[in-house]
Amino acid sequence: MGPTRRILSLPMPLSSLILLISATVPLAIAGPALTDDSQCGCYRINDDSSTYFTHHRFFDFRSLSQYAGVPAVIQDVEASADAAPTSDYFRDSEWSSFWYLGSWNNSNGAREDATVTMVNSPNNVYIEANTEDNPSSQTYLTLRTQRLKEFQTAAEIESSSSKFKYLSLRMRARTVGAGGAITALFTYRGGETLADVQEADLEIRTDDARNVLHYTNQPAYTDDGVVIPEATRNATMPNGLDWTAWAVHRLDWTPGLTTWYVDDVIVAQIEFQAPRDESNIILNAWSDGGRWTGNMTLYDAAYLQVQWLEVLYNSTEAVATEQSSCKKRGDGNSGGGGGCDAVCSIDETSEVGTPVMLWNNSPPQTNGNSRRVEMGSVPTGVVSAMALFSIALLV
Ligand SMILES: *[C@@H]1O[C@H](CO)[C@@H](O)[C@H](O)[C@H]1NC(C)=O
Ligand SMILES: *[C@@H]1O[C@H](CO)[C@@H](O)[C@H](O)[C@H]1NC(C)=O
Ligand SMILES: *[C@@H]1O[C@H](CO)[C@@H](O)[C@H](O)[C@H]1NC(C)=O
Ligand SMILES: *[C@@H]1O[C@H](CO)[C@@H](O)[C@H](O)[C@H]1NC(C)=O
Repeated sequence: MGPTRRILSLPMPLSSLILLISATVPLAIAGPALTDDSQCGCYRINDDSSTYFTHHRFFDFRSLSQYAGVPAVIQDVEASADAAPTSDYFRDSEWSSFWYLGSWNNSNGAREDATVTMVNSPNNVYIEANTEDNPSSQTYLTLRTQRLKEFQTAAEIESSSSKFKYLSLRMRARTVGAGGAITALFTYRGGETLADVQEADLEIRTDDARNVLHYTNQPAYTDDGVVIPEATRNATMPNGLDWTAWAVHRLDWTPGLTTWYVDDVIVAQIEFQAPRDESNIILNAWSDGGRWTGNMTLYDAAYLQVQWLEVLYNSTEAVATEQSSCKKRGDGNSGGGGGCDAVCSIDETSEVGTPVMLWNNSPPQTNGNSRRVEMGSVPTGVVSAMALFSIALLV
């Protein structure tokens, strides 16, 4: 007998009581308090090994109506590469302190089986109004690729820094449009030879079934074209979803391991060839008429659309301002992990993009709040126990 029937067969007062408990208790327990990045020394993620990161950035594309507009596709190769940013959003330091818009092309022959000239254009990266029914955001970021007469126009955004070493990278995104393209989120470190490349990839092939995802610690093949099966996993979207639906895609790159999540479900883990050295972060939408991407039909297009992007990371680049903050760095006596006193989380937050304080062992500040917050896992544990309790009442 299913739980639904059991609920229905309960005497009325008891089911009311359960509803009352379920409705009120989680609200009554205060989770870890919302804070801001200036108060956080480090961030703990909810993986199995209590991994910590020192930096956090959140890029929110959900309420940018003032920048929204779909630019006409540029049909000329040179003008495509030289195109200006599509709105002031991409000129603002919030964006440009972290990202730049790719404008390279594939004429260097990096992919031998390419049959089409591909040109990345800043014109294919734009803020778009969300016109779906019951939209879950006003706007989103779009990366567009389209097959034109002379070439394939494509989109790429890259981090300016190539000094990320370990990260937890998340995006709420979907892929829509025609077959014959790839949309991707990955870390990248170039190399002189194929074997020197280090890269942890999420790739969606729009030719595939709409629930198939590809995860790879590149290279996935040798110079002779021999496939390296340990480097790659084909996975499927969890919960019956297609990649055309909004979902949170997440990559945790930790020492010796890449772990991929969709909506908090682990869908792939690869130890083999996990990136070892500093890398940058790339998102793109592209096609080159090769075997991997397939061919796009003339004037067909595909899109990677992103509501928000969030990254926790460590960097080998010194960030002077952060080193000098005494609130963030303790005296070495901190009981917490990550070598910091003020430990935050972006997983346990009620507001995407805004961290919560798990605990803070910093010395008291003159302006008050010296309250020592104990392990953030305590309130969470209580909430889970309550959830279990509610379920137990039902069986
Ligand atoms: C490709 O990029 C190279 C180097 O920037 C440039 O010289 C060349 O003209 C570009 N080719 C095309 C087809 O855009
Ligand atoms: C993984 O997917 C690719 C592309 O769809 C396919 O060519 C390959 O055979 C698949 N590999 C496995 C092991 O299923
Ligand atoms: C794409 O089309 C070209 C001809 O325009 C052809 O040579 C190539 O084999 C096609 N690629 C695939 C993957 O079908
Ligand atoms: C990130 O840096 C902090 C501080 O140095 C360190 O404690 C933590 O282990 C690092 N995280 C990873 C995944 O290496």
